[in-house]
Amino acid sequence: MWSPEKRDNLRRAVLAEYARLAPHYDRRWFSYVAATSRETLRRLSFEPTARLLDLGCGTGAFLSALALSNPGASLGGVDPSPQMLAVARKRLGRLATLIRGWAEAIPFADESVDLIVCCSVFHYIRNPSVALKEMTRVLRPLGTLVITDWCADYRACRICDFFLRTFNRAHFRMYHERECHALLEASGLTVIDIERYKINWLWGLMTATAQKGFGPYQKYDRLSCGGRERRG
Ligand SMILES: C[S@@+](CC[C@H](N)C(=O)[O-])C[C@H]1O[C@@H](n2cnc3c(N)ncnc32)[C@H](O)[C@@H]1O
Repeated sequence: MWSPEKRDNLRRAVLAEYARLAPHYDRRWFSYVAATSRETLRRLSFEPTARLLDLGCGTGAFLSALALSNPGASLGGVDPSPQMLAVARKRLGRLATLIRGWAEAIPFADESVDLIVCCSVFHYIRNPSVALKEMTRVLRPLGTLVITDWCADYRACRICDFFLRTFNRAHFRMYHERECHALLEASGLTVIDIERYKINWLWGLMTATAQKGFGPYQKYDRLSCGGRERRG
């Protein structure tokens, strides 16, 4: 556990990083965000009127893609960076409710969301267990969490992780697939699937899908009710 002072310093590093990046983020990371959004969207399954939360929504690119393909869904976004949120507000207008906040203290009521998506954010989170507990609190029973992030099982990502840890105070760490699995299960979620894939020569990702309150018997109920089939 971090002392409050240390935690505030680390948070300041994240806020400074995204205050700097916000004006250029969409241009600089365009193809990366297009690829992570596409890969994540492809793995989502939800009802047309579902309540969706994009945690660490940044400039709102993923919410914008969701709004286009799912006009009946109710969309929310949370991000700690005022500058990233300002870009998201411009882009989304009234299509989504955007709130400033951190994954470790999500400004949403208990059991108020059907699906949480968290894309390219997990490597910033200093206390993943606390954040996952928060995600679990906010999800309704049988709600789904989908996390896409860099995967330390890829050598190129491990090298990036080393450099980022050394030179970028905003970055925290990447995880191996088995570490991600263990973190999710330790927070009481049931892992449905973790898929690893590369989007280009550098970035190797994983998308983890987990469900709240999903016991061994419910699992078969869900699949027979048209839920997403488990792969592999
Ligand atoms: C690489 S950007 C990704 C933005 C967006 N999800 C996307 O895919 O384009 C990382 C975002 O995570 C946010 N972030 C960093 N630490 C966070 C935390 N502890 N809780 C929630 N969001 C966080 C940053 O402010 C930033 O907007």
